[in-house]
Amino acid sequence: MDTEEFRLPRSRKANERLHALIPGGAHTYAKGDDQYPENLAPVISHGRGAHVWDVDGNRYVEYGSGLRSVSLGHAHPRVVEAVRREIDRGSNFVRPSILEAEAAERFLATVPTAEMVKFAKNGSDATTAAVRLARAVTGRTRVALCADHPFFSVDDWFIGTTPMSAGIPATDLTVTFPYGDLPATEQLLSRHEGEIACLILEPAAHTEPPPGYLAGLRALADRHGCVLVFDEMITGFRWSEAGAQGLYGVVPDLSTFGKALGNGFAVSALAGRRDLMERGGLRHSDDRVFLLSTTHGAETHSLAAAMAVQTTYTEEGVTARLHALGERLAAGVRAAATAMGVGDHVVVRGRASNLVFATLDENGQPSQEYRTLFLRGLLTGGVLAPSFVVSSALDDADIDHTVDAVAQACAVYRKALDAGDPTPWLAGRPVKPVFRRRA
Ligand SMILES: Cc1ncc(COP(=O)(O)O)c(C=O)c1O
Repeated sequence: MDTEEFRLPRSRKANERLHALIPGGAHTYAKGDDQYPENLAPVISHGRGAHVWDVDGNRYVEYGSGLRSVSLGHAHPRVVEAVRREIDRGSNFVRPSILEAEAAERFLATVPTAEMVKFAKNGSDATTAAVRLARAVTGRTRVALCADHPFFSVDDWFIGTTPMSAGIPATDLTVTFPYGDLPATEQLLSRHEGEIACLILEPAAHTEPPPGYLAGLRALADRHGCVLVFDEMITGFRWSEAGAQGLYGVVPDLSTFGKALGNGFAVSALAGRRDLMERGGLRHSDDRVFLLSTTHGAETHSLAAAMAVQTTYTEEGVTARLHALGERLAAGVRAAATAMGVGDHVVVRGRASNLVFATLDENGQPSQEYRTLFLRGLLTGGVLAPSFVVSSALDDADIDHTVDAVAQACAVYRKALDAGDPTPWLAGRPVKPVFRRRA
């Protein structure tokens, strides 16, 4: 496909309809067309496995599917079959379904470091519940979150700390600590001695935890009497099915799961120590904590999806496959970028099962202009990749196709670097970051 000829007329119209009806033109900011090159934001018709089709009829190899939720690929047969079975038997009743016990047993067998679990729909429900529970059990008000991790919740305690804090009263109860820096975290805990209810972080993100870091954080939390919360929304079913906590062997007090847990069906989980979780229950004499209680939290077909996902992961060795696919992709992309002379500018980072890429300008600085140019090249080559986060549905041919598209995009990248200005290749405004104060 020639870049000049690659147009998405139906997607353009559909984006206009979306913006006329839905603020932001999407139900998740990270899916917005501002994240894509101008007039090149495909609107999806459907997906299967590692592929999606847009309303213009183009097929793409897709990465980062469903904001990392669809790690087995779209319409995965085992998941779809489990969902269909429950849909025919009813989705929501006036009393718990037996499936709630089965799904909880299954989850706690998969994540054996947790003793109790409560399900909800969105990750934010779970992280916010963790924060509330930590505040209730410690009697403290401050929350310390890791400043290097981009997202924890749609709720005020987190969004109030971002540039999109309009409408949120001061969130000075939220404080931050840097990832990987135990002395800085200890200083924070000492400065606010007796005030911090919890430390919340992703156990790992784009870098591996430094040796001893997670164990050190565990010790710090114990010493300062605060609750350690691992947000395993991303790591949960990518680092290992038992979470990053299963891989690194450090047990948090509470942890939160979502995304890949349902392979695209809505299910999240708050899991953790029995004595803490029980405060949301009926078997204690303390003040009760309102710990997750949602109309749709136990929707049967989503719980069935979660169980099918866990079976598939354990029986088919999915985390190992994600890792192997990611390694193959990273090697191919790095080789293509190097061959085209942009090895220092198109940089693949992260754990193999959770790859992202950086697009750096002539001075080695992150550049939205070069990201735009690179995304244009990928889209034109039939690759929809805001990241290189793999699904297990990819095959070698998909990865070869992706590497070819990357090579083409890198050739244009080189031209732009040589010209000292990417503007002529953008064909519109650059892509924008999600969190910014003004539209
Ligand atoms: C690490 C992390 N925590 C929490 C969330 C919130 O999950 P949800 O969008 O399901 O509310 C996200 C979503 O992107 C996330 O990446």
